[in-house]
Amino acid sequence: MTLPRVAMFSAQQYDIESFRQHPLCQQIELTTFATQLDHKTVSLCQQADVVCAFVNDELDRAILQHLKIQGVTHVALRCAGFNNVDTDAANDLGLAVSRVPAYSPEAVAEHALALIMTLNRKTHKAYNRVREGNFNLNGLLGFTLHGKKVGVVGTGHIGAALVRLLSGFGCEIYCYDPYTDEKLTETGATYTSLNTLLSECHIISLHCPLNEQSYHLINEQSLAIMRDGVMLINTSRGGLIDTHAVIKGLKTHKIGYLGLDVYEMESELFFHDHSSEIIQDDVFERLQTFHNVLITGHQGFFTAEALTQIAGVTLDNIVSWHTGKVSKERFVVKP
Ligand code: NAI
Repeated sequence: MTLPRVAMFSAQQYDIESFRQHPLCQQIELTTFATQLDHKTVSLCQQADVVCAFVNDELDRAILQHLKIQGVTHVALRCAGFNNVDTDAANDLGLAVSRVPAYSPEAVAEHALALIMTLNRKTHKAYNRVREGNFNLNGLLGFTLHGKKVGVVGTGHIGAALVRLLSGFGCEIYCYDPYTDEKLTETGATYTSLNTLLSECHIISLHCPLNEQSYHLINEQSLAIMRDGVMLINTSRGGLIDTHAVIKGLKTHKIGYLGLDVYEMESELFFHDHSSEIIQDDVFERLQTFHNVLITGHQGFFTAEALTQIAGVTLDNIVSWHTGKVSKERFVVKP
């Protein structure tokens, strides 16, 4: 049997290494492109059977049509979220779409916790001060996490992992999700309405997928009912937050702390070195000016364990699709 020809887009060195080191990589013919998949680059997959894509690759109807015409049969996402794929179009075109439903959810939950702890105890500022011989504590005042009310929006793999971590800190945990996870209620977490969660909690962390219902979940109206000085954490998808409303919330002190690993317009910026360029995104640049905003560039997933798992599951999706032994629960558009 001929090996499936796989075109990997947005391929960083660490992606290539984690794939090449996996034994299943010998069962595919891999071509990698550092560039993102979009209308300008789609023609690069001329020889491919499978396109391996990441979070900011564009997979709208026009691009999927282009892929189909070029002979691609399978879009293998090497991530969990699939908000960047027009799944209706893929279905219409008969293109299979697979993903990695859960790879080290603890990795992302631990990163959300790192954002909470850093924003609170300001270790990033303390590090710089102490290196400069400045041991003044003014401006570094934090709060004790123990006993604080923390709201977790979306209690799937990652949200549930965060609930488990926070329960170790002795937080009072409020959850909102259309589905109740009984195991979490056994740890002492309470499911509540979204409004109660938003209005009660000192810290709110977002872990639901981006879709039509959750788009701009955090907006002027939802911010209005939150506590003054609330800490908001988003490691899920940028589109969950109306960035303009959040900037207003920071200016009026409604938001006391903002931790972001994702940003609505991140595809223009994240995963690349722009340090010697002039960044043109004024909204992002405004966010960066606030002393109480901490942004990381979509690195929640970025642990050695998660990379190995992503490579293994993605390769298994590709090989099993090619050999007809498909693990259907990993396909968002079924073959
Ligand atoms: P999951 O599918 O296991 O859980 C999502 C949960 O959200 C489900 O329980 C679902 O019922 C719930 N949900 C759906 N719509 C909701 C809504 N409107 N309000 C509240 N809850 C809602 O997904 P998982 O693995 O926990 O990932 C969550 C998100 O994290 C992904 O969609 C992805 O966008 C993001 N992610 C970010 C990464 C990073 O590196 N920063 C890495 C991996 C995922």
